[in-house]
Amino acid sequence: MISLKRDLSTRGVIILCNVSEESKRPREDQMAYTIACVTGIRNLLNVLRLYHLPTFLHSRRVSVMARRVGYELGWRGDSLRLLCIFGLLHDVGKLAVDPAILEKPGRLAREEWEAICRHPIVGEQLVRRVTGSTSMAAWVRSHHERWDGNGYPDGIASDSIPLQARILSVVDAFDAMLDGRPYHRSRRTIKMALEEIERGAGAQFDPELADLFISMVRREGRTLAKMFPPSQLGGD
Ligand SMILES: [Fe+2]
Repeated sequence: MISLKRDLSTRGVIILCNVSEESKRPREDQMAYTIACVTGIRNLLNVLRLYHLPTFLHSRRVSVMARRVGYELGWRGDSLRLLCIFGLLHDVGKLAVDPAILEKPGRLAREEWEAICRHPIVGEQLVRRVTGSTSMAAWVRSHHERWDGNGYPDGIASDSIPLQARILSVVDAFDAMLDGRPYHRSRRTIKMALEEIERGAGAQFDPELADLFISMVRREGRTLAKMFPPSQLGGD
């Protein structure tokens, strides 16, 4: 299980509570609310780990990489902590998707694909209820939007997509390419995944973030590689 100290900073959760509409509560209630918030997030992640371990592990890697991108953008402190928590929670909506669909090899039937496409909306609702943060809930809802407006669930484009969700989009796609998805094509090497992100810049991905991410991975490939088994790296 993830370390509460390292990945789920209490300070981050306090800030998260403060950005919620619930922050007007009396001071004595604030600590109880923060504890409930931390417990709620931990419980949610625990359920995700038990429900579908690959999604939990993916979320943990995405959280680490998103934080690294945030740092590269000059973010520090609470912004980074919230990005980290968002990375951990972005796919909790998959709790509403049958594991048989998540594990199904080959093409999905239309209804199965529709079930996958609902996970950002379910995730938004779960994150809003557990954290009280409408901002983070909105980031979760938008993490599968595309820069060109052809994403889901809302088809919003470019700057209308929250920046945190645009960061997640690049990192999420990179991890999915390296880790593979039963319903997508086979695993790619780091080199192939970066080429695909380069091709998707300005279409699927925010072009500036795609450039920044590619440079970062090329510079720090060795550190990043520690998160993936050697078989997934293809020598790149
Ligand atoms: Fe997702």
